[in-house]
Amino acid sequence: MKSVSMILRLLSVAPLLIFTAPGAFADAAAGKAIYDGVGACGSCHGPTGQGDGPAAMAMNPIPRSFSDGAFIYDTDGDGTAGTDTDLMNIIKNGSAKYGGAPTMPGRADIADSDIQALIAYIRTLKK
Ligand code: HEC
Repeated sequence: MKSVSMILRLLSVAPLLIFTAPGAFADAAAGKAIYDGVGACGSCHGPTGQGDGPAAMAMNPIPRSFSDGAFIYDTDGDGTAGTDTDLMNIIKNGSAKYGGAPTMPGRADIADSDIQALIAYIRTLKK
């Protein structure tokens, strides 16, 4: 009996061991909880991030689809849009600050570490 439970235990941790970046994996799971919960990102970006949330239809531009992973703002002017820094700035400050639409609200109330988790999560939505 003891060896059976030992094997079950090993099997349950195996997926974690295979992941090269277990930290990023944990972040993405935490990010999903924030996305679905306090972030309410899905109301606009859709439950699976396809830009098709219930509030999205009336918006122009429509909320970004995370499944194509095409981000447009280069908030720090480093020549590359959609870096982690850019996404952090957009989620924290909203896109109007960077010349975009006021319909992407800034969420300065969400802690930076939680925004990092959100970023890890939305990157997993890219198809
Ligand atoms: C009220 C609707 C709404 C909510 C809620 C919302 N967004 Fe957005 N989001 C938008 C819209 C609209 C855009 C497109 C803005 C633009 O192009 O200027 C956008 C764009 C973005 C982008 C794209 C930035 C880029 O460089 O292309 C990211 C990333 C993003 N949102 C993340 C989030 C996250 C994470 C949340 C939850 C904390 C969230 N959004 C909540 C409407 C929303």
